[in-house]
Amino acid sequence: MVRLIQVIAAAVTVAAVTATTTCSADSHCPEEAPCCSEYGECGVGEECLLGCNPILSYALDSCAPQPVCESKSFSNWTTTDEIIKNWEYLGNATANDWWVSGTPLVADGNLLLTMAANTTGTLLSSTHYVWYGKISVTMKTSRGSGVVTAFVMMSDVLDEIDTEFIGSNLTTAQTNYFFQGIVTGELEVNASMSDSFENFHTYALDWTPDSLTWLLDDEPVRVLNRSTTYNATTMQYMYPQTPSRVELSIWPGGASDESAGVIAWAGGAIDWNSTDIQEVGYDYATIKEVNITCYDPPSGANIQGNISYIYTNDAATNNTVEITNNSTVMASFEDTGTNMTAGATTAAAQSTATSSSTSDSGSSESSSSSSSSSSGDGFSQGNGSGSNSSIAVTFNPSFIQVSLVLAMTTVALMA
Ligand SMILES: *[C@@H]1O[C@H](CO)[C@@H](O)[C@H](O)[C@H]1NC(C)=O
Ligand SMILES: *[C@@H]1O[C@H](CO)[C@@H](O)[C@H](O)[C@H]1NC(C)=O
Ligand SMILES: *[C@@H]1O[C@H](CO)[C@@H](O)[C@H](O)[C@H]1NC(C)=O
Ligand SMILES: *[C@@H]1O[C@H](CO)[C@@H](O)[C@H](O)[C@H]1NC(C)=O
Ligand SMILES: *[C@@H]1O[C@H](CO)[C@@H](O)[C@H](O)[C@H]1NC(C)=O
Ligand SMILES: *[C@@H]1O[C@H](CO)[C@@H](O)[C@H](O)[C@H]1NC(C)=O
Ligand SMILES: *[C@@H]1O[C@H](CO)[C@@H](O)[C@H](O)[C@H]1NC(C)=O
Ligand SMILES: *[C@@H]1O[C@H](CO)[C@@H](O)[C@H](O)[C@H]1NC(C)=O
Ligand SMILES: *[C@@H]1O[C@H](CO)[C@@H](O)[C@H](O)[C@H]1NC(C)=O
Ligand SMILES: *[C@@H]1O[C@H](CO)[C@@H](O)[C@H](O)[C@H]1NC(C)=O
Ligand SMILES: *[C@@H]1O[C@H](CO)[C@@H](O)[C@H](O)[C@H]1NC(C)=O
Ligand SMILES: *[C@@H]1O[C@H](CO)[C@@H](O)[C@H](O)[C@H]1NC(C)=O
Repeated sequence: MVRLIQVIAAAVTVAAVTATTTCSADSHCPEEAPCCSEYGECGVGEECLLGCNPILSYALDSCAPQPVCESKSFSNWTTTDEIIKNWEYLGNATANDWWVSGTPLVADGNLLLTMAANTTGTLLSSTHYVWYGKISVTMKTSRGSGVVTAFVMMSDVLDEIDTEFIGSNLTTAQTNYFFQGIVTGELEVNASMSDSFENFHTYALDWTPDSLTWLLDDEPVRVLNRSTTYNATTMQYMYPQTPSRVELSIWPGGASDESAGVIAWAGGAIDWNSTDIQEVGYDYATIKEVNITCYDPPSGANIQGNISYIYTNDAATNNTVEITNNSTVMASFEDTGTNMTAGATTAAAQSTATSSSTSDSGSSESSSSSSSSSSGDGFSQGNGSGSNSSIAVTFNPSFIQVSLVLAMTTVALMA
């Protein structure tokens, strides 16, 4: 069998076209472009925000601190206005619970993640991170060969928890997990349900420091105990254990520029003239509800505040996460974690310039608004109260035709 690790890379290079420096375990970012993005590119500004990998960056504090978990429920979507566009986000998770690249729309109280012909689809990410919690997503997947729908928890050091759906098999959900980007010994596990395009199902994760349970319509379909993940060679638990964003996406695994392994995994070549593209103009996944309930930090956690998570050591295991009062908000796209106000004076001008270079996707539905309700009392994880907090995400429907660079990196592991 073939197991696949996919990393959707959606990096936006709007105004600045500079030679891209890449980063890896062997080659961290240089001081002048200190932040290693989720897609392995060095830079400042947005590269220092969501997905910035501190252990591949110039220094551990090059990335901006990560907004702490907040318990919240999202449903009855009426607008995408509260979803911040990828090129506008400066780290203020209070202002925007959700971030997006691509084209989200609302219809009948649901949020649609769309993928028009020849596009790279849509990626919705929470701006708050979850450091253990229960995350539930009630949705209908997209359909068709080569069309992938995904519900992923992704940490900045590439701990990852996956539930993925291939559009050619609407009765199977594939579950998987990674520790710092590494596939462990355990195989993916499939769960089955009734047609996931026609029917809403609730896909959930109950993630604690010691155990991770995938649930399908409230029934556990897979349990991973931390105790079973110990690696005697590295003397580490290869268990997802670091603050992670909620990512919901639709992407073209069957696009012609994908590797043969990914295309095969995705069910074959994508049909850019699919039934849904003919009928409504795009393939889509339908998000009805997202609930995020934050759990307490681990007993032993280093709690020095209640605003952000940072890493204190490049081992990036659970005992190296600190909860701080460090701000998560940069003043401009020239800033980094080590100076969040370095380019303050040019922020406004740059924001205007980048926005004007984008165009609307011209999709067929108008946006409305979403309502979110807070299930708790504005709990933040650092306060030790043991209550819940949740995450909200906003996404905007403009699509950056010219400047969105989406790189899909796939590692196919033959087992
Ligand atoms: C957090 O703030 C402290 C105190 O201001 C600072 O020393 C540290 O570098 C900051 N850490 C990060 C990751 O921003
Ligand atoms: C969403 O709409 C349903 C049905 O109209 C209603 O019962 C529910 O209270 C609404 N939820 C929120 C959070 O507004
Ligand atoms: C973040 O956004 C909130 C809500 O819009 C606002 O009150 C707050 O001042 C912003 N914080 C920063 C640092 O800009
Ligand atoms: C998608 O790309 C193909 C191949 O380049 C082209 O033939 C087709 O017209 C494109 N479709 C749209 C809707 O842009
Ligand atoms: C979907 O995948 C499951 C698990 O591999 C398999 O048993 C089933 O036959 C597949 N269904 C279709 C329609 O391919
Ligand atoms: C333990 O970690 C090492 C180094 O990452 C890796 O090569 C090895 O495959 C791991 N062992 C297991 C059982 O996952
Ligand atoms: C899971 O289902 C997919 C098809 O949806 C199949 O290719 C894969 O082999 C299945 N994996 C396992 C472990 O059964
Ligand atoms: C996980 O741990 C629980 C409690 O110790 C145990 O009952 C269960 O069998 C374990 N499950 C797996 C899959 O290891
Ligand atoms: C899509 O398919 C329909 C029906 O099969 C056909 O009429 C139409 O020309 C096709 N459009 C494109 C862009 O290929
Ligand atoms: C989400 O939270 C709302 C409000 O607390 C609740 O009514 C709803 O049942 C929850 N949905 C899921 C799928 O957990
Ligand atoms: C790390 O996780 C383990 C397993 O739950 C826990 O015993 C330990 O207290 C945690 N350490 C910290 C510092 O969070
Ligand atoms: C951040 O950069 C600005 C502009 O260069 C500078 O004035 C300020 O002193 C810097 N702050 C820190 C903490 O380095």
